[in-house]
Amino acid sequence: MSLGILSLVGRTPLVKLERIFRHHKIEFFAKLEQCNPGGSTKDRPALRIIRMGLESGAIQPDTTIIESSSGNMGIGLAQVCLYHQLRFICVVDPKTTAQNIALLKAYGAGIEMVDKPDPATGEYLPARIQRVKELVETVANSFWPNQYANEQNSEAHHETMREIVMELGKSIDFLFCATSTCGTLRGCSEYIKTHGLKTKVMAVDAVGSAIFSGHKCSRLIPGHGASIVPSLFRSDLVDRCIHVTDLDCVVGCHRLAYEEALLAGGSSGGIVTAIEQSASAMLDKAVCVAIFPDRGERYLDTVYCEEWVAEHFGEVPTLWNNDLRRARALDRPDRPESECRSASFQGERIGGQLRVR
Ligand SMILES: Cc1ncc(COP(=O)(O)O)c(C=O)c1O
Repeated sequence: MSLGILSLVGRTPLVKLERIFRHHKIEFFAKLEQCNPGGSTKDRPALRIIRMGLESGAIQPDTTIIESSSGNMGIGLAQVCLYHQLRFICVVDPKTTAQNIALLKAYGAGIEMVDKPDPATGEYLPARIQRVKELVETVANSFWPNQYANEQNSEAHHETMREIVMELGKSIDFLFCATSTCGTLRGCSEYIKTHGLKTKVMAVDAVGSAIFSGHKCSRLIPGHGASIVPSLFRSDLVDRCIHVTDLDCVVGCHRLAYEEALLAGGSSGGIVTAIEQSASAMLDKAVCVAIFPDRGERYLDTVYCEEWVAEHFGEVPTLWNNDLRRARALDRPDRPESECRSASFQGERIGGQLRVR
């Protein structure tokens, strides 16, 4: 099967980042899923699900693909469907950013807007899934990828973990990954277990997400977290869960930008804060890998917008600017290192709850 642009899905770079956690004695590598052609880690399951459907005959040239997504999965599917000239309807809600809707349209997707949340839960996700089910009933010859339950989603990430293991060529102590459908978490973890690796799997979930805790609340940063427990979730595949707040994500993103000149999406920022919170408990030279799911450009109106940050969190930029000042002080030869270390980021831990399973 010809794949053109889709042949670039996967084989994303794994980069060693030496600045951001320099106060800890860990070795840190980030898997940059933003380098997938559709801009996120969801390109992998999108391609696998559609390709398997085409190969098995479940998807025919006149099939309409229908999925609920407010972001990355929709964009990944839209690109794959456009390449294969398949009609795609993406069910979105008012929280979907204007930029994501524009991207979906640019990739030829039809937009189905759900404008009322589910009356029982007040959440949009169950309402979006309900609309998908209605559409699948009414649109002739339709196919629902069902990213929250489709094992092709998690199986696509066996390859993500294989790439990490092959490229690193040494044992990995910790893998940090953000959770929503739990496809990434489950796929990587299955690979780890199947290959008898000792890597500890650290799930990073949003405070207010239903996946690891019944305590649901509204969240601002899209991508990670879910208001349902996905069928793909399996607690035995996780060693520990760390919950991060929206502010943790914002601070982590800005630290990543300042320290590493790397612009990543909100959940990557959450992972950065989760590692910062756990790194002091890790052994020296622990090898730590994080999967960064998407790129920062999709968050220019939120995480990277001064006004948006001020409106939701107040005067918080000192949280990352102070750290930057300290980082510069660390490099100043006229200042003893002990003095700089005592003022390290560690002493000012930010928000974020830690939950050990
Ligand atoms: C930005 C971002 N982070 C994290 C995730 C979680 O990935 P998964 O659905 O594999 O659990 C997603 C999923 O869409 C995402 O878009």
